[in-house]
Amino acid sequence: MTLLMMLKRTFAFLPVLAWVAGSFMLTSCDRTRNDKGYEYFPDMAHSLAYETYSPNPNFKNGSTEQMPVAGTINRDMLPYHYAANDSARKQAGKDLVNPLQMTPENLAIGKEKFTIFCQNCHGNQGLGDGFLYTSKRFSVKPASLVSPKMMNAPMGEIFHVITKGWGVMGAHGSQINPADRWRIAMYVEKELQKKTNK
Ligand code: HEC
Repeated sequence: MTLLMMLKRTFAFLPVLAWVAGSFMLTSCDRTRNDKGYEYFPDMAHSLAYETYSPNPNFKNGSTEQMPVAGTINRDMLPYHYAANDSARKQAGKDLVNPLQMTPENLAIGKEKFTIFCQNCHGNQGLGDGFLYTSKRFSVKPASLVSPKMMNAPMGEIFHVITKGWGVMGAHGSQINPADRWRIAMYVEKELQKKTNK
């Protein structure tokens, strides 16, 4: 076979190849954007379980999403029975005892959480001069955490204020778990108020 014949034979397949490639490209296009086309192993893409927001005939209210059972408590959270008022705060201060040790680890986490949740209002020294206040984004002066009042308050009161809020300060109980609330309270007493008897 001459070289020319070989070339001719090879190029004879070109139209066939073009046709195959072309039809493949056309069929793999998605005209509607809703049709995924041919699916290989579709059991991964379409789960047998109900999708979160899909209707669900198995429940009375017809919805897949269900509320937690009444009385459910989040992991790491504990119900808190003190009300958001002055006398309950005083009572919490008398009753509640920090269950954690004053270790460097706990203080370090306390500092981290204070920086995240409190510093923007109360300032890094707890003087009530955080950025939200000094930049006038928050109009009420945050209380000083090193005032004579707070220097004399038991740690349980800090825990209480974090959990239930105080005056215009919002409650943080749903965002910070109890152990971290104690760690913040420890950090406030030890590092900001410099209390040495703890
Ligand atoms: C959005 C701003 C803001 C944030 C965030 C905030 N606070 Fe406050 N906090 C205030 C304001 C304002 C007051 C004073 C409320 C009042 O007197 O009505 C206050 C009051 C307090 C008090 C009571 C002070 C007193 O003299 O009775 C404590 C304790 C306290 N905050 C601790 C914290 C801790 C700890 C955090 C972080 C978990 C925190 N706050 C987060 C704004 C804030």
